[in-house]
Amino acid sequence: MTQSLLDSPYVVKAGKILNTKEMTNLEKYFAIELPGQEDLAHDPGQFVMVSLPGVGEAPISVSSSPTKKGSFELVVRRAGSVTGAMHKLGAGDTVGIRGPFGRGFPTKMLEGFDLLFIGGGCGNIPLHSLITFVLDNRSRFGKINILLGCKTPETRLFVDELTQWEQRSDIFVDSTVDQAGPGWKGKVGLITSLIPGVKIDPKRTYAVIVGPPIMYKFVIQELLKREIPDSQIVVSLERHMKCGVGKCGHCQIAQYYCCQDGPVFTYNEIRNNYEAL
Ligand SMILES: Cc1cc2nc3c(=O)[nH]c(=O)nc-3n(C[C@H](O)[C@H](O)[C@H](O)COP(=O)(O)OP(=O)(O)OC[C@H]3O[C@@H](n4cnc5c(N)ncnc54)[C@H](O)[C@@H]3O)c2cc1C
Ligand code: FES
Repeated sequence: MTQSLLDSPYVVKAGKILNTKEMTNLEKYFAIELPGQEDLAHDPGQFVMVSLPGVGEAPISVSSSPTKKGSFELVVRRAGSVTGAMHKLGAGDTVGIRGPFGRGFPTKMLEGFDLLFIGGGCGNIPLHSLITFVLDNRSRFGKINILLGCKTPETRLFVDELTQWEQRSDIFVDSTVDQAGPGWKGKVGLITSLIPGVKIDPKRTYAVIVGPPIMYKFVIQELLKREIPDSQIVVSLERHMKCGVGKCGHCQIAQYYCCQDGPVFTYNEIRNNYEAL
């Protein structure tokens, strides 16, 4: 195969699973390498199309930062045929990988600004890539506030890292669950309940929100009340996808193809299609 064909977005590369870990009852972590290719060369917020022969293909965000070399990481929630089949795989198995695809988080634009990260549920997967990238390049960014939420204590992701982040004095981290369980000593309530506890200078702040659709409307309302400009509110949207490269139209949101123009948008780009959130 010529080099240009290998670079085609339609060519599926063999990804070798290096190791896996059960993160929760539904989410499983995978470390993957592309033999013969040093790095995936992705931006935080981009996704890959993961395929299994005879089963299908699904878009999955890269959860690791591009600062991690040699392999990349995915966290997969068991939802149906492809993700269910992936959960049966382990170290040494192979998955098909296309990508990375999409427009990731605007890391250059965020430089020099204070950052407010707000993540809910599975949204914490792509957000993890960006947060680790920012922490690995800490001096390039201003104050960092991280607010994370999920349904129950058992569904929390990246718990070990979260504990380490909470111990750092150069960032502020707060988290909550919708419903407590036995032994839970943390906060209980919706993620919006954490926003008043954060000090922000709105002109100097970029807010990055990733979570389930219901979360966006309420969180954005709170951020607008705090006078963060529309152009400094960044969201990542999920749509059903097939091709991943702007050809099939499955992921259309108004004039945008979510797979190519997104999944990351600023609020001023999609404000007129608020129902798209
Ligand atoms: C840009 C992007 C990034 C994503 N990142 C991740 C990730 O990091 N980790 C992760 O676990 N999942 C992620 N998803 C969701 C994941 O792609 C779907 O769960 C997956 O496609 C389901 O495929 P399946 O074959 O397992 O399920 P199917 O058998 O096809 O369907 C099972 C159920 O999942 C629903 N479903 C299918 N696609 C989606 C979708 N895109 N969004 C919501 N529901 C869907 C179906 O309607 C059905 O109810 C992402 C989706 C997008 C668009
Ligand atoms: S998934 Fe085909 S156009 Fe976006």
